[in-house]
Amino acid sequence: MSPPEPLASALADLDALEASGLAAFRQAETAEAVEGVRIEFLGQKQGRVRAAQERLKVLEPPDKRPYGQRFNTVKQALEAAWDAARARAERPDRAPSRGIDVTLPGHRPKLGHRHPLTQTADELVDLFGRFGFAVARGPEVEDVRHNFEALNIPPSHPARDPLDNFYLPGGMMLRSQTSTVQIRVMERQPPPVRVIAIGRVYRPDTVDATHSFMFHQIEGLMVDRGVTMADLKTLLRLFAQSYLGHDVKVRFRPSFFPFTEPSVEVDMHWHGGDRWVEMGGAGMVDPNVFRAVGYNPDEVTGFAFGLGIERLCMRRHGIDDIRLLYQNDTRFLAQF
Ligand code: PHE
Repeated sequence: MSPPEPLASALADLDALEASGLAAFRQAETAEAVEGVRIEFLGQKQGRVRAAQERLKVLEPPDKRPYGQRFNTVKQALEAAWDAARARAERPDRAPSRGIDVTLPGHRPKLGHRHPLTQTADELVDLFGRFGFAVARGPEVEDVRHNFEALNIPPSHPARDPLDNFYLPGGMMLRSQTSTVQIRVMERQPPPVRVIAIGRVYRPDTVDATHSFMFHQIEGLMVDRGVTMADLKTLLRLFAQSYLGHDVKVRFRPSFFPFTEPSVEVDMHWHGGDRWVEMGGAGMVDPNVFRAVGYNPDEVTGFAFGLGIERLCMRRHGIDDIRLLYQNDTRFLAQF
């Protein structure tokens, strides 16, 4: 038998055993790790707790009682730590040591939505769809025939000035108006026609609060027997009231476009507002345009109109600078 040990150092070893056992259980994350710690400390044959119990035998008789009492509290503490570690390892998503607390409120992912211009375009398609208009399309890179010639705009016309258009090599250009789509539709199909076309147009304008080198237009074309200017005015009034409100007034001013005769400029006025705002141009399709696409101007008549989509969108939402529509600042876009 080994010589008797002083009680103080034996109690200090119990303290150290308790501290290292508690720490080991706290750090064990998986069920296997917990079991490893259990074997090391609470194992029946080789466990460190078991070894501490063996030490009772080498203590002086009066030391056995205080040592035994402290030993019992250490053993109970480690058994409790084992229970807690096991419970935690069985629900790993609750383990604080993993850094994930599933009970915390989540981060809501940011969802985008359609751009206000796209919303406006979609609403226009919907509205004119109810008036019986189908949607047509044409290319943004156009030839001079569709942008000018078939629209009765001769080579000498100032609208063809290189300073007012984006010309490309090979007789092509970025279209300056969606009236090009009128021609493309009539080339493809015989009358009657009732279409709208929505898309980008390009003009080398200096950018300011109401101008941009690129903007969007909605073009309308209706061709049939007996279509009149009264039909055009009625349609545009109905449209303005449906889209912008019943108190909207629409004014037609005499104007000139090579592809319509007579031609008008379309203004809109809001009750409570102080001024008329020009929305675009319109008129009765010029007989020369019908001839250019092989329609017989003695058989059919038609009207056409072209409105600026940015203006409609801005008036509808009270936006005062066109540039806001192109900057994609989410603080702006989130408002629509
Ligand atoms: N294309 C003309 C413009 O861009 C608008 C217009 C369209 C006028 C159709 C008459 C008929 O200014």
